[in-house]
Amino acid sequence: MSIKIIQGDITKLSVDAIVNAANPSLLGGGGVDGAIHRAAGPKLLEECKSLGGANPGQAKITHGYDLPARWVIHTVGPLWRGGKEGEPIILKRCYENSLCIARSYELRSIAFPSISTGAYGYPIEEASEIALSTIEWFLENCAYYEMEVICVLHNKRDYEVYIQTAKILGIDYEV
Ligand code: APR
Repeated sequence: MSIKIIQGDITKLSVDAIVNAANPSLLGGGGVDGAIHRAAGPKLLEECKSLGGANPGQAKITHGYDLPARWVIHTVGPLWRGGKEGEPIILKRCYENSLCIARSYELRSIAFPSISTGAYGYPIEEASEIALSTIEWFLENCAYYEMEVICVLHNKRDYEVYIQTAKILGIDYEV
C-alpha cells in the first residue's frame, strides 16, 4: 500500500471518503471547508448540526450528499501558534483519527487535503512531514485491508513540497 500525492480539487474525487479541514463548530467555513459544503449541498450542514462540534484533533463522519465521495470525515486541525503549543501532536491526531474512522467503516479510499496549512497557518513543510509519516505508519501497522490514501494539494507549490518531503523521508508514493 502506498500513498498517492496529487494536485487537484478534493471535492471532485470519486473516493469512499474525503477529509474536511473544519473548525470546531463543524458548521462550515472558508477554504476547503467551504468548497466541500458548497459541493455537498445544504443536507451536509443539516447533518453537521447533529454532530455537536469537535475538538482539535478529533474527527467525525457524515454522508457526502451531492459530492462524488460517499462520506466526509470532518477533522479540526491545530491553529499554528509557533509549534510549541501541541500543534504537531494535534495534527497527527487529525490524520490518525480520520484513518481510524475510515477503517471502522471499511472504506477502501480516502483523500486528505493539507490540513491546517491554509487559514490555520501551519507551515506546509512541517505539516507534510506529519501527514505523510502518519499515513505511512497507519498503512503499515493498522490497515488490515488494502486502503488507498490520497493527499490532494490545491496548488503546485504545495504539491511540490509534499513530493519533496516524501523523497526526503523515503516514503513510498505514487503520483
Ligand atoms: N481541494 C483541496 N485542497 C483545498 C481545496 C480544495 N478544493 N481548497 C483549499 N484547499 C487547501 C488549501 O490550499 C490548504 O492547503 O486545503 C488546505 C487547508 O486550508 P484551509 O481550507 O484554509 O484549512 P485550514 O488551514 O485547516 O483552516 C481551517 O479554515 O475554512 C476554514 O472552517 C475552516 O476555520 C477553519 C479553517
